[in-house]
Amino acid sequence: MNQELNPLGLKKIHHVEFYVGNAKQAEFYYRKAFGFSRVAYSGLETGNRETTSYVLRQNRVNFVLTTPLVPEHPAAEHIKQHGDGVRDIAFQVEDADHAYNEAVKRGAKGVIEPRDLTDENGSVRHAAIATYGDTIHSFYSYVAGGKATGNGNVSVASDGAATAAQQERVYAYSGAFLPGFIEQLVPGEDVGIQLVDHIVGNVELGKMNYWCDFYRDVMGFERYITFDDKDISTEYSALMSIVMSDGQHNIKFPINEPAEGKGGKSQIQEYIDFYGSAGAQHIALLCKDILHTVGKLQANGIEFLRVPDTYYEEVLDRVGPIDEDIADLQRLGILVDRDDEGYLLQIFTKPVEDRPTVFFEILQRKGCKGFGKGNFKALFVSIEEEQRRRGNL
Ligand code: FE2
Repeated sequence: MNQELNPLGLKKIHHVEFYVGNAKQAEFYYRKAFGFSRVAYSGLETGNRETTSYVLRQNRVNFVLTTPLVPEHPAAEHIKQHGDGVRDIAFQVEDADHAYNEAVKRGAKGVIEPRDLTDENGSVRHAAIATYGDTIHSFYSYVAGGKATGNGNVSVASDGAATAAQQERVYAYSGAFLPGFIEQLVPGEDVGIQLVDHIVGNVELGKMNYWCDFYRDVMGFERYITFDDKDISTEYSALMSIVMSDGQHNIKFPINEPAEGKGGKSQIQEYIDFYGSAGAQHIALLCKDILHTVGKLQANGIEFLRVPDTYYEEVLDRVGPIDEDIADLQRLGILVDRDDEGYLLQIFTKPVEDRPTVFFEILQRKGCKGFGKGNFKALFVSIEEEQRRRGNL
């Protein structure tokens, strides 16, 4: 892996952990409505006296739902402050020690120093750093010991031989998820969600560039796409956004900040007011057949934002020919946008908790690498209508 482009040795998003008020009920929602399967469990029965966690999986997406069992656990304070929300966007990395040491050297705040997590199925190495709000990035690896040397290689003594202390330790883990979890399979009915495409962070007014610089300086990400308030502004709900991405464009983290609207409150400010800080706004989930996936999700009771039907009278003039029947898209409320390389199909859920905070995007890419810029206007008119009904505009 190229140290210049990927200084922390990130491999992929390992999982997203949510802190929730009642993990048992949240697990039921994600399994029954979003089509995830429960694959692992940690709680009182496994000797965990502090939290209960369920691991949900659908193809390459892993969610962990965690609730505190005691008020002293930090998850209790997190829920008090933020409601249900994303605590950890966790990466699998080549070497958690290297990722942590390099991130801290580059200016990140350490949250959990590198440590072994072990159970009867083996060990993994874990560390974590802070990002926006109370959100963290964990690093998990099956190798440990690489010392941050600035060139990303395991530190080697001057004679070329690795000393004992500097040698990589190789871990093996054969359990269902991570140490501390037992396998617990409760199948859901797969709706075709495949992969996390991007995770958007909402940050405070004036902090967008700070957090973009963080992802550039700490993680080696680059600015991929920038949207200013001319792209994303309606009568009220202005915002600015910069998409930060790794060199391979596998991991994409757009960062939003509120912008001055014409007298109303930005949807980003509404989020921050109710989340109590910066935090993860939405997780975009890729699928291969959005008509199938969204049809299933709607039948399961997931609520989506809808744009006015006039959108479908004009959309083909804007995006040109598409494979899908426009009547099917209109029936399900799916939006279309195009860039030079193809088109995308997308739809957004309403917030999935009572606070108007975290929501999901369901997305299918047909070549397009964008984020649906052509839909922002129609979408934000619809978001504003929801904000108005909540008394938050
Ligand atoms: Fe998105």
